[in-house]
Amino acid sequence: MARKKIALVGAGNIGGTLAHLIGLKELGDVVLFDVFGGVAAGKALDIAQSAPVDGFDARLSGGSDYAAIAGADVVIVTAGFPRLPGMSRDDLLTKNAGVIGQVAEGIKTYAPNAFVICITNPLDVMVWVLQQRSGLPANKVVGMAGVLDSARFRHFLAEEFGVSVEDVTAFVLGGHGDTMVPLTRYSTVAGIPVPDLVKMGWTTQERIDAIVKRTANGGGEIVKLLEKGSAFYAPATSAIAMAEAYLKDKKRVLPSAVYLNGEYGQKDLYVGVPVVIGEGGVERIVEVQFTPEEKAAFEKSCGAVRDLIEAFKKLGV
Ligand code: APR
Repeated sequence: MARKKIALVGAGNIGGTLAHLIGLKELGDVVLFDVFGGVAAGKALDIAQSAPVDGFDARLSGGSDYAAIAGADVVIVTAGFPRLPGMSRDDLLTKNAGVIGQVAEGIKTYAPNAFVICITNPLDVMVWVLQQRSGLPANKVVGMAGVLDSARFRHFLAEEFGVSVEDVTAFVLGGHGDTMVPLTRYSTVAGIPVPDLVKMGWTTQERIDAIVKRTANGGGEIVKLLEKGSAFYAPATSAIAMAEAYLKDKKRVLPSAVYLNGEYGQKDLYVGVPVVIGEGGVERIVEVQFTPEEKAAFEKSCGAVRDLIEAFKKLGV
């Protein structure tokens, strides 16, 4: 059987890490696209030369011609600019709006049947623009944020409880920004909800509140440390989990930014909710019941995404 083709639009920090992970996991052949074609080609060659050592077979190529992404099964978009210290994700809107418009055109022309995962920030707005401009069906265009935000929450919870990250599940909803909504009620250690663990004396509510806050600021903490860009290992790993769910029809339940058309009382909006990802792309949107406080927090987060969509419309790009 022919190998799957995965196109990476943007060959920066995340793009390069994605290509390496795709090779290591033997998910398919990789085409890296970047405005700096040399960077894309150089990273492809470098990773290809690691293949004999790691023992994986994949064709890797790179350049700046959109035609190379033709017929891709999956496209992962990281084209654009990352945050620098002092910037919020929203500050990237003006810089990245034009970039995503070009990317949408490229995908529409060359890879209209692909499953598209957007990582470029501000995520919820950029994925909305990507779907609108490319005209691809909404179930085939998703944004990566929830898997990453949940992974950050899981990491902090595992550290707090002194247990394996494997046994911690976490649930984060809403926009990929300060208003994201980590739901402790649905976050567990081996099935025991976090509020029960508080009652059992494993931790205190104050410490959980601090972890929730640290999760919401998880990206900013790394931007501050790196000084020259934003996180890339965990974002790339998270997008690969989504790509793998699609390519292998795993029907994984993953929090993703998806198009809501009435679900959760929201219309014409991309925002993070749990979904089933399989060969049909987004196969099902999981609608959980909220408490009044959770509902208010989710609606506040949706409001922040809507404000940014309005700001985007005013840019006229
Ligand atoms: N088309 C294609 N590639 C582009 C374009 C464009 N119009 N504009 C910029 N790029 C490329 C840059 O040349 C660069 O190689 O996108 C790449 C981005 O890589 P990095 O600057 O290393 O950024 P990275 O850390 O990979 O993050 C990319 O993902 O998480 C988000 O906030 C982050 O928006 C940022 C994106």
